[in-house]
Amino acid sequence: MINTIFGKSLISVLDITPAEIKIIFDRTSQMRQLVTTKGGDDRLSHRIMAALFYEPSTRTFSSFISAMQRLGGGIIPLNGMKNTSVEKGESFHHTVQVFSRYADCLVIRHSEAGLPKLATNYITRPVINAGDGFGEHPTQALFDLYTIIEKLGHLDGLTITLVGDLKFGRTVHSLSQLLVGLSTQVVINLVAPTQLRMPADIIENIQKRNIKILETSNLDEVLAQTDVLYVTRVQKERFDNISEYEKLKSYYIVDKKKLKTAKKKMIIMHPLPIAAGEIQNEVDSDPRSVYLNSQLSNGLYLRMALLDLILNR
Ligand code: CP
Repeated sequence: MINTIFGKSLISVLDITPAEIKIIFDRTSQMRQLVTTKGGDDRLSHRIMAALFYEPSTRTFSSFISAMQRLGGGIIPLNGMKNTSVEKGESFHHTVQVFSRYADCLVIRHSEAGLPKLATNYITRPVINAGDGFGEHPTQALFDLYTIIEKLGHLDGLTITLVGDLKFGRTVHSLSQLLVGLSTQVVINLVAPTQLRMPADIIENIQKRNIKILETSNLDEVLAQTDVLYVTRVQKERFDNISEYEKLKSYYIVDKKKLKTAKKKMIIMHPLPIAAGEIQNEVDSDPRSVYLNSQLSNGLYLRMALLDLILNR
């Protein structure tokens, strides 16, 4: 099969075709097998990745570093942009041009939506969007989808409930659009307070595909029918008015009591971090929770697959 992902940037889930998702998921399963049997191999030796993280990260940063190293590749040892010449005022477009001379691909996280896309105007190396402001987080959405299919076996017929900060939450912007690109047989519940509703352009994109959507602020209205409960953090860093954040941060609390009406086979997801108790610690050990186990591991396997496909013909 031709690797159409070779040399490509990944900025938005809208950049990827269903055929490419299948290629990525097949490779992800191979990576899981590789890590669990041998830990990794050296297929990316002599390739270098630069991870330019202008915003904090635990999972995305570490899993990209781990992915590259498990495949024998090298990294430029950055951890955030603090000790780079960005501190001296170097511009974004000079910074990406510099790193593109030293690395074979750039993984970029930025607080401003659109910056990873902008980088592709300045350089020819592939760019992977590792989360851009309240824009998208395409690699997260890919392994979220992989996890849903791994756990529930299929996508058609599922009711997927996205809860919390749907306005600023980039993971749900990507996941909702990825889901509807693959199946017209899903039902999507968008559960948010009025102030944090999903942006209108994303709702329009979903509706264009004749997908059944229900918007509500009441989680109890949809919980019993839900197959995938995807909870998000209210994104404090995107608020101009901190008192507005304080009012909204704990609008939804998922705890054992709340989950009593939920299906036994439902899965509970969260991109993490949990910052305001939106999922209570007591739920961590619920067998339906995947956010501290397979959702995390699949992030590593999927990023290994992507780096392999992008950097190896
Ligand atoms: N899910 C996610 O993007 O987590 P980090 O911010 O820790 O990378």
